[in-house]
Amino acid sequence: MCGIIGILGSHEVSPQLVEALKRLEYRGYDSAGVATVDANGTLARRRAVGKLVNLSDKLVHEPLPGHAGIGHTRWATHGAATEANAHPHKRGPVAVVHNGIIENFRELREEVVALGMTPESQTDTETVALLTAWHMAQGLGPVEAARQTLTRLHGAFALAFLFEGEGDLMIAARKGSPLAVGSGDGEMFIGSDAVALAPFTDRITYLEDGDHAVITRAGAQIFDADNRPVHREIQRIDVGATQIDKGGYRHFMAKEIAQQPVVLGDVLSHYIKGDRIVLPDSIDFSEVDRLTLVGCGTAYYAACVARYWFEQLAGLPCDLDVASEFRYREPPMSAKSWALFVSQSGETADTLAALHYARDKVAKTVGIVNVGTSAIARDADIALPTLAGIEVSVASSKAFTCQLAVLAVLALKAAHDRGRLDDAGLAAHLDDLRAIPGLVNQTLAVGDGCRNLAGWLAEAQDVLYLGRGALYPVALEGALKLKELSYIHAEGYASGELKHGPIALIDRNVPVVVLAPRDDLFEKTVSNMQEVMARHGQVLLISDAEGIEAGGDGVYASLAIPQGGGMFQPILYAVPMQYLAYHTAVAKGTDVDQPRNLAKSVTVE
Ligand code: F6R
Repeated sequence: MCGIIGILGSHEVSPQLVEALKRLEYRGYDSAGVATVDANGTLARRRAVGKLVNLSDKLVHEPLPGHAGIGHTRWATHGAATEANAHPHKRGPVAVVHNGIIENFRELREEVVALGMTPESQTDTETVALLTAWHMAQGLGPVEAARQTLTRLHGAFALAFLFEGEGDLMIAARKGSPLAVGSGDGEMFIGSDAVALAPFTDRITYLEDGDHAVITRAGAQIFDADNRPVHREIQRIDVGATQIDKGGYRHFMAKEIAQQPVVLGDVLSHYIKGDRIVLPDSIDFSEVDRLTLVGCGTAYYAACVARYWFEQLAGLPCDLDVASEFRYREPPMSAKSWALFVSQSGETADTLAALHYARDKVAKTVGIVNVGTSAIARDADIALPTLAGIEVSVASSKAFTCQLAVLAVLALKAAHDRGRLDDAGLAAHLDDLRAIPGLVNQTLAVGDGCRNLAGWLAEAQDVLYLGRGALYPVALEGALKLKELSYIHAEGYASGELKHGPIALIDRNVPVVVLAPRDDLFEKTVSNMQEVMARHGQVLLISDAEGIEAGGDGVYASLAIPQGGGMFQPILYAVPMQYLAYHTAVAKGTDVDQPRNLAKSVTVE
């Protein structure tokens, strides 16, 4: 899940490489590096551990001239985040940047060692540079040498090669991991995604699995897995080169939480016109016998919430799994079923592989994605954009609630198609859904309460989140948010599961966050809360004002959520989950937008 970039430019490329890497930093920020070929043909590199800013600083003191270059931002897989393990890996006349995992790298490493070469890093990537350098030492030209190396690689990779003495040549290759080639005027680019290339060009060619491209300033020659020249379409991609900024907020996450009323309004008005749902004609659930919903992390929790809607509204049985399990457990799938894949980035390796597993087994695959140019958007039969806009903060907020909005629309469409909702019933639920952006706007007011509670949560070693029904996955999401942002151990449980084990954890030091909307299950959740308080657990009750009035006796604190939203209330409850984690992280002084060890787009499994 590293980010890679390559430029054959018309002037100094180091600043452009860094600019593009900034747009790829969401893929990892353990280290960064660039390599260039200068006017004399010299291949040189600069690398720095930690965030991109360290590399930019280094380049100020040690500039790197050259009109041809490659760059990399790393999320460490093989080998710690050290300079020796940072990309580009340069051996002899070859420099390589890589996203993915070379699964047979141990075998290849033994091979290059037996050939008399000594690896300088612990990475899988260096073996690619070593093998290519060896082929060149045997007399092969750079293109043939890279091709020979590519035939030896197992696993998933997007690779870019640059060569000493070759100021007008880059080789790009992909298997599994995405890679885009950008065409400029007398300039050529490669990048992990179109967003990275947006400042330079909107003319993008996506390499297909197994492709490699031989790139000069005159253009790209693309070859398929059998080394046959192939034509791949150049598409105009509108991702906007606009600067991504915090808009006056302290963190991207704060901005993205606050944007939710607007983006939810955008996405709902895209899919709902009056009392009509507007979706592609091919979306008709009448004959569908079952749904499979797949995602990872927060996207998976969105799918978990949607299961309640599809089952209760549309009577559609749902299978649900995290993509990393789904893809390997060989689940049998009905040919009349549809499979839904939920992903912000649309590039998550496990979710993409799960989609590939399902596509010849089910009647239809649907990608619910935020990045419209992503692999999942391209590979699914139908792609439904979540229209949250660019989400920069690694921890997902607005992408989650927009995923929920699209899933809610789909569940209503399914209920209507299957005769479970008549027009009047549909109109009533659409009213509830249309009210959500305004209600989320009101819910943002819990931010102050969450800030006041942050000191309390920041002291905790463990925090429990409890919810029932569709609020159970929101509790899981709350716990995930707190873990990833503040590094505090947190778990979400179905309230009813409490006495089957987790209640043993309760004492006065364990904050328990209880999500209790005033629905049919309210009394049961309140009973579970009483069980916690009877054991001196400190409860934060999240409900509406009447719920707090009815059940809030003896709680440590409460947060009031506005009434309304009908079945779609879980979207409102997501907001305090986000703010609690955000303010706790700020109180602890952790890196809110780029928490340790994480990356925004998880392109390795
Ligand atoms: C958590 C978070 C992750 C992602 C997960 C899937 O805040 O953002 O759990 O939800 O890595 O990513 P996408 O949605 O890009 O497939």
